Amino acid sequence: MSDENPYALAERAAKSLLEQCGVSKIDAAIVLGSGWREGAVALGTPEAVVKTSSLPGFVAPTVPGHDGSILLVRVGEKNLALVSGRVHLYEGNSAHAVVHPVRTVLCAGASSVVLTNAAGGLDSLLGPGSIVMLRDHVNLTATSPLEGAVPPENYGPRFVDLSNLYDDSLRESVKRVVPTISEGVYAGVRGPHYETPAEIKMLRTMGASLVGMSTVLEAIAARHMGANVLGLSLVTNFAAGVTDEPLDHQEVLAAGKAAQRSLGALLQRVAPLL
Ligand code: HPA
Repeated sequence: MSDENPYALAERAAKSLLEQCGVSKIDAAIVLGSGWREGAVALGTPEAVVKTSSLPGFVAPTVPGHDGSILLVRVGEKNLALVSGRVHLYEGNSAHAVVHPVRTVLCAGASSVVLTNAAGGLDSLLGPGSIVMLRDHVNLTATSPLEGAVPPENYGPRFVDLSNLYDDSLRESVKRVVPTISEGVYAGVRGPHYETPAEIKMLRTMGASLVGMSTVLEAIAARHMGANVLGLSLVTNFAAGVTDEPLDHQEVLAAGKAAQRSLGALLQRVAPLL
């Protein structure tokens, strides 16, 4: 990512995204975490596919299953951007680089954003394949996308209120269309190592029910820009120490593939709410 002011960079990227998509505005966005890309196919054939390498400020993802592109799909009257190409702190990126895709789609007009991810489950009742809606998070990355440059005046305040980070009314709407959906608190860690059983015990004591290496910074950046945020986790494995099974990234990817249909069905119900 360049030294340019991160907000100005996102505005430039948004302009290029809209030009390449051939639309004047994005209405909502879904950031696709591990496994969710396959599910998002259910949202229909994209009207445009923009490689993130063609947009200012985007760094290339290094994680298999995270190729860098933004897909434009129409849902009803709305332009929905599907962001595939999340980058993480553990790839050596700054917090600003991690949230740049989210800032870009919000600068392009999106007023709500769904952050999806793969997560380890801390609750023995929420095993692999469970889908959990985030009620809140604990940011354990020791950083913030609001560190550094003072946000320009037309953005939210640097000391942004996160008391309704995962928007209550959006969660209520999701519960109306998917009454059985579970809710939980996501602990966001830096990784890339998985946690120790002692760390998982600590996270559970803190009130977390999920653990993962993404989402929290993007949620903060999106709220800061006034967006309604929804978080959805696919539990891909029991977190360390919950069972005797060893943890393995291939297992995370395989659980995503196995859940493709249920993720697709959920996204089809959630997309019209955005
Ligand atoms: N820990 C952290 N991140 C994860 C996990 C986990 O167990 N599973 C998927 N992402």
